[in-house]
Amino acid sequence: MWDPMVYRRYGTERSRPFFDLVSRIGATAPRAVTDLGCGSGELTRTLAERWPQARVTGIDSSPEMIAKAGPGDFRVGDIAEWRPDPDTDVVVTNAALQWVPGHQDMLVRWVAALPAGAWLAMQVPGNFDAPSHRLLRAVAGDFGVGDVLREAPVDDPADYADLLAGADVDAWETTYLHLLPVDGPDHPVLRWMEGTALRPVRAALGDDAWTDLRAELGRRLAEAYPEGHGRVAFPFRRIFVVATI
Ligand SMILES: C[S@@+](CC[C@H](N)C(=O)[O-])C[C@H]1O[C@@H](n2cnc3c(N)ncnc32)[C@H](O)[C@@H]1O
Repeated sequence: MWDPMVYRRYGTERSRPFFDLVSRIGATAPRAVTDLGCGSGELTRTLAERWPQARVTGIDSSPEMIAKAGPGDFRVGDIAEWRPDPDTDVVVTNAALQWVPGHQDMLVRWVAALPAGAWLAMQVPGNFDAPSHRLLRAVAGDFGVGDVLREAPVDDPADYADLLAGADVDAWETTYLHLLPVDGPDHPVLRWMEGTALRPVRAALGDDAWTDLRAELGRRLAEAYPEGHGRVAFPFRRIFVVATI
């Protein structure tokens, strides 16, 4: 289950890639705009502000997220079931496709179905080999829940460019250095991961085992990401693809 409040903890750091992504979309007057995996909709609303004439829709599989979304066209739905409409001129999907198995095949299908001139813009985290994720896999293995984590479910920019070779592709990666303040007993990277990567592990464990795993992962993260000047430096690689059809 997604918890909108936990996910929003590092809202500023999490929203920057969205704005870096959509700044590369050149559409001027799109008819319909869809945000796939829109979460609680704050970022989707910025698309409606940018293109006030467009029909902007946000789709997310989490009823908790959609319940927080407020006014606008927000719907509970599965990205895997989504198909473009004939007037879908912009598709945005930010930090969501890593949760959708087989998303590469979907991208190919969407590009084939989108109207000429449409834009498809996606961003996924590319940090599955980072110390944070390696430690998570090790600790989850120790607690017998390693199988709920997936191995690197995303590709490199060049792979996406190959996949979408029929479109005009702009693909890149950026490693953001998040300087997370140390403002409580929990390691800030642990708090960050609770909003996303740790969710399947939490769901697979009882309360006591979860408390123990959390403590153990926190200890290991504190070694990998030491505190300095009251903060922790957390490099975070992200992968971006913008395709024009
Ligand atoms: C990390 S959040 C990103 C939210 C928002 N796009 C943002 O940038 O803040 C990932 C979102 O993807 C949604 N999600 C995951 N799998 C999905 C699926 N198969 N279909 C629709 N939404 C999905 C989750 O519910 C969650 O809200």
